[in-house]
This record gives sequence, structure tokens and C-alpha cells, in this order.
Amino acid sequence: MPTDDNLYFRQLLSGHDFAIGDPLALQMANFVYLIGDRSTGECAVVDPAYAVDDIVRVAAADDMRITDVMATHYHPDHVGGSMMGYRIEGITTLLEAGSFRVHVNENEVPWVVRTTGVSEGDLVSHEAGDCVHVGDVAIDLVHTPGHTPGSQCFHVRGCLISGDTLFLDGCGRTDLPGSDAEKMFESLQLLDSLPDQTVVFPGHRYSVPPSETLAEVRTHNFVLKPKKKDQWLTIFGS
Ligand SMILES: [Fe+2]
Repeated sequence: MPTDDNLYFRQLLSGHDFAIGDPLALQMANFVYLIGDRSTGECAVVDPAYAVDDIVRVAAADDMRITDVMATHYHPDHVGGSMMGYRIEGITTLLEAGSFRVHVNENEVPWVVRTTGVSEGDLVSHEAGDCVHVGDVAIDLVHTPGHTPGSQCFHVRGCLISGDTLFLDGCGRTDLPGSDAEKMFESLQLLDSLPDQTVVFPGHRYSVPPSETLAEVRTHNFVLKPKKKDQWLTIFGS
């Protein structure tokens, strides 16, 4: 975990650190992140789902207050909605309880509206390269289409919250509504250009370690091996 003086950073695993006893949360192994400024007590939550009250309680127990919501992409296990016949809690539950800025990439807005039922006015639409400040902590938004049109990663003080774009092993699926395999290749190349010591914090626990440096990820993640688009598409472009 990052240890900067005023940086508040928590990685929470669904079914373990929150939503305990929820079999779907346990099986899906989603990571939720709390990122904030200890000096102001404000924090953002990345991809709140399953048991929103639990997540709010975790932040409150650390004397932090959630002011912002950051959505990596529209899938219900990240923002709430219906999935596999289950109703997953998410940003609508948060918005019913209070006022939050919900940050979404501009290309993801209609998808988030459709999945969660929130109105467009509830969302703050962002372009690639925008920056969100939570207290004095700056979170850079990196647009990484491919898994979905408006997938975005969050870069804060050497940490990359990579959503379902880059896992420690593999990457997000490119056969879902709004997916684009060519764009996924380009997004992975963009992330691969970040410094070696960048710590990758993925959207799911699909590997034993919860995070690794990009240098470590490069040694074993096969989706980062091909450097040419046609080669990548031949192997992974289904
Ligand atoms: Fe996803």
C-alpha cells in the first residue's frame, strides 16, 4: 500500500472485507478502493458495489468521509445493476443516501445510466486526461477503451487503479457489449508505457497477489507480450 503522508488508500476485497456472506460478491472477487486525503478527511470510492453501507462504514471507521465516486466502467459488479439474475447495489444506493460527485468517462455515460438507472445529471462526465482532486490528492483519469467504450483507469502517486482493463494476469474481456479488441490493444500499450515501479491495483482478484509493480506484471502477463496489433488480435482478439 502507498505510504505518502497525507494519502489515504485502501484496497477492499468483496466477500472478504465487505459484503461478507454475499456469495456473488465472494465469487466475483471485486476490488473496491478508497482514495483520499487524510488531512481533510475526504475520500473517493472506486467502483462501489454489493454492500455500499459496508464500504461507507469502512471509510467512517478510518475517520474518512466519501465525497466522490469514481467508476472504472459500467458493469454491474462495479457500479451496481442487474447481473445473472441478481440485483447488485451500487451508485444508486449511495446517491439515495447523500450527495456525491460520480465521475464517469464521457463515453461511458449512457451505459452507466442504462445499467444503474441514475440520471445523466447525477454524473460528472470526463474527457481523457482529466484530473479529480480529493482534498489535496490529485487523481488522473486515463481513458482505456476496449473492455467497454469509456473504461478508465485512475493514476494517483505511482498507483494505477486498472479496473477491468489490466489484471495482474490477463485483461478484461473484449466480447461484451461495447467491447473493442483493437482499442484494448492500444489501451494496454498505453498502460505498458508507464514507469516500471507503477503499482497495478486491478478491479478483480484473479491472481494470488493483490497488487504488483508493472515491472512484475510484465514478466508474466501474456497480454502485454505482443507489441504489434495484428499479432495481439490473432491471439487475444476473440
Ligand atoms: Fe467489467
